[in-house]
Amino acid sequence: MMRRRSATVATAAMLLAVSTSPRQVASAEQAAAAVPAAPLTKFEKAPQGEAEQIGQIISLTTQLLQMRYPEGMARRGVHPKDHGCVKATFTVNSDIPPNYRAGVFATPGKKYPAWIRFSNATPFLAPDLGQKGPDSRGMAIKLIGVEGETLLNEPGAKTQDFLLINLPGFAFPNVSEYLEVTKIQLAKHDDITSFFTPPLSPDRLKTAAVVKKIQQTNVGNPLESPYFSAAPFLYGSDRVAKFSVTPRSAEKTPVPTNPTTNYLREAMKKSLDPANGKPAVFDFKVQLRNDDSLPIEDATAEWSEATAPQQNVATIEIDQQDFDNAFQVTECEHMAFTPWHGLTAHQPIGGINRLRRDVYIASSKFRSQPKEPTGFPKWPW
Ligand code: HEM
Repeated sequence: MMRRRSATVATAAMLLAVSTSPRQVASAEQAAAAVPAAPLTKFEKAPQGEAEQIGQIISLTTQLLQMRYPEGMARRGVHPKDHGCVKATFTVNSDIPPNYRAGVFATPGKKYPAWIRFSNATPFLAPDLGQKGPDSRGMAIKLIGVEGETLLNEPGAKTQDFLLINLPGFAFPNVSEYLEVTKIQLAKHDDITSFFTPPLSPDRLKTAAVVKKIQQTNVGNPLESPYFSAAPFLYGSDRVAKFSVTPRSAEKTPVPTNPTTNYLREAMKKSLDPANGKPAVFDFKVQLRNDDSLPIEDATAEWSEATAPQQNVATIEIDQQDFDNAFQVTECEHMAFTPWHGLTAHQPIGGINRLRRDVYIASSKFRSQPKEPTGFPKWPW
């Protein structure tokens, strides 16, 4: 059973955005007009007031971008720094079990050309290893040439994006917690220390636990880390799954003792060097939800692999290549990855995913608009 969410989110976003700048208003309006309301699947339960909270987050996100980039080119609202954006091939395994053949995985042996952008979640451009330790690392995959009904109905869109982070749990359980942290980010210029002022609520304790794990999970080379969707997705018409990716090689490059600002990009360049490097291969896995106890509305919750095992369904191959050139870097900077770029068979579900639909659109529209300078931007950030 599908139910339509009200248009309040988009409307609220437009109204709230009016107070910022003409450039922002235009972007929020276009974003709102471009997409119909998100359908709610039978697996989801949206709390009362969520649509209004999403509207507030959209407005706050555009205000945050305005604050961070008063001059010059605006970047992504989250994950602005890429370590490398590479060309890859995504092949559905020829021995994929019949009950996993759905959506982009319907045809055994099917090959898709793909872009993959490896990134850092820190909301501004910063050294790869900050003073507080590692941040969350991202892997965004864009399959090209998919077939089937798509979610956003964008003309000509034949892509399926998978957005993954390097831990199985996302840092925030739901929309209301994300709203609170976003308010603090804007009020305190991205310093979220006060979000963790005791006493911590049960939801906040979940966030603190994930943040601790993030800060303990160091990566020496983005090509050697596992990645997870954390949030759930439809899998075909009547099932739900999470996705993950595991590097085939067990190699682990140590983090340098004195890491340079861009040591992760340097590690990727060395690995994929056309003369001396080697291809990177990953297994793409699906974890089907086989028990009603596996949460959908809490994105911090990991699904036990003992209950719901992972199944290899596809293989990602990244050949040696020179990805660190102005053309490829610029091409990727202008791309938009979102879990809502894709087939209805893989609709993002759960509160955090419902929130992501309009926020990603607002962020990518905002950063795609040229701006007249009133001075030189402040570099480095
Ligand atoms: C399961 C939860 C999430 C995961 C796994 C995730 C992962 C990612 C990744 C990997 C990227 C980088 C995409 C790229 O390379 O272009 C990204 C971008 C982004 N994320 Fe998330 N994210 C999550 C939740 C959220 C939430 C809750 C928000 C806020 C509503 C958010 C806001 C953004 C924004 C604004 C961008 C940049 C969009 C653009 O300008 O193109 N994310 N996310």
